[in-house]
Amino acid sequence: MMAGNTSGMRIVLLGPPGAGKGTQAKKLVDALGIPHVSTGDMFRRMVALGGDLGVRIQAIIGSGHLVPDAETCEVVETFLTRESLWDRFMLDGFPRTVPQAETFDSMLSKRGKRLDAVVAIDLSEQNVLARLGGRKSCPKCGSVYHDVSLPPKMAGLCDRDGARLTVREDDQPEKILERLRVYVRQTQPLLDYYERAGSVRRVDGTADAGEVSARILAALRDGQND
Ligand code: AP5
Ligand code: MG
Repeated sequence: MMAGNTSGMRIVLLGPPGAGKGTQAKKLVDALGIPHVSTGDMFRRMVALGGDLGVRIQAIIGSGHLVPDAETCEVVETFLTRESLWDRFMLDGFPRTVPQAETFDSMLSKRGKRLDAVVAIDLSEQNVLARLGGRKSCPKCGSVYHDVSLPPKMAGLCDRDGARLTVREDDQPEKILERLRVYVRQTQPLLDYYERAGSVRRVDGTADAGEVSARILAALRDGQND
């Protein structure tokens, strides 16, 4: 699976809810120059647009369950094509089920491409609860904060645009637990899937965000000759 000459260009970030996928993807975009593609952010933008589709997606996300595979794959294929991103992406939150990974593999091979790396960020359930329990997001620009580890300069307001920060609907305690259950049932099997296809680079996410970025960059470098 790993392509030596293009290593580092087509990357999938895996990990439980709250592991820091979004935080790391944003940091790595600067370090690697690869666009961040988050299906969670895409779906939240669809919710913000409203309409029947937005209302339906909101109900799914709000319940902590997953948007159906076929619909998710179509959204990703359309986006990567429209933005000409088949050669460089940092995917955050996709694929999230084995059927999504299989469909994504065929989308790539149809275009003569393959994944260069799958980075799995590990984090204990206890840490996930602490991370998501303190998360605040900007509804306007999507910036993400944390009450303890990354507070905004002015309490409750986004540093970038001053908008009032909100708690994601799926960050209520019972929703977090449901998302963790969904992760174990539907997403964790992906680790085996990708282990069989090549090497997954596992990174311990239990450290400050800068240290986790350094670990991910080291893991990507180490795997360059796979
Ligand atoms: P999505 O938005 O992808 O949610 P998720 O996977 O549950 O992950 P999160 O965004 O909650 O966590 P994260 O890992 O990005 O952590 P973050 O960096 O924010 O998906 C939402 C929903 O959309 C799904 O439930 C589903 O309904 C739908 N969906 C999306 N993709 C789908 C798909 N492929 N198929 C079907 N449905 C799909 O960090 C968390 C907090 O911790 C933040 O406050 C942050 O500041 C803080 N933090 C981060 N790193 C550190 C650190 N190292 N130290 C201290 N604090 C840290
Ligand atoms: Mg995220």
